[in-house]
Amino acid sequence: MITFDFPFIMKQVKLADKSFQLYIDSKKINLAIDEVAKKINEDYKGKCPLFLCVLNGSFLFAADLLKRFKGECEVSFVKISSYDGTSSSGELRKLIGLNEKIEGRDVIVVEDIVDTGFTLEGVYEQLKIHKPKTIKTATLLFKPNAYQKDIEINYSALSVGNEFLVGFGLDYDGLGRNLEDIYIIKETA
Ligand code: IMP
Ligand code: MG
Repeated sequence: MITFDFPFIMKQVKLADKSFQLYIDSKKINLAIDEVAKKINEDYKGKCPLFLCVLNGSFLFAADLLKRFKGECEVSFVKISSYDGTSSSGELRKLIGLNEKIEGRDVIVVEDIVDTGFTLEGVYEQLKIHKPKTIKTATLLFKPNAYQKDIEINYSALSVGNEFLVGFGLDYDGLGRNLEDIYIIKETA
């Protein structure tokens, strides 16, 4: 039997003044989260890690990752940001919402994306004051070519280029976080 594929139509979204096109679909995202969760389950077997999720961007990744974690764990949410618009400002704002006892804990920082690494470095600096036993990082997306820090990115679901992305928690000026796929910015001529 001969089958014909339907013409492929590229999914696009418009958010405020910018257009974006499909980059990573939800199926691929979910498979990548499966892989990361598998590694974390192996590494934290018999431990009770504290997942410290960095809001707002990590909320969907955090939910999907935590559903896949098999052992005992705690979850908490903190806020910090170094972004304004579509490029990193490099300026850190303060970490807020750190109420859990950190001392002696195995902490896993959960991020939506690690870009330059300034945000992550800020989180680590403030966490270390509270003397955790270990700190590791789980991120949905990692931009290795933009990364400027030495902190090891322990669990990265997907490595991407330097282009600006939205969806699955990532926003363009507050919009697009609810999209189940990840979209890449369309360059305007
Ligand atoms: P960094 O401090 O440069 O590593 O940036 C980290 C933060 O910037 C992330 O937690 C995101 O909130 C934001 N960010 C970095 N790249 C992107 C992107 O491509 N789209 C949307 N937000 C981004
Ligand atoms: Mg973020």
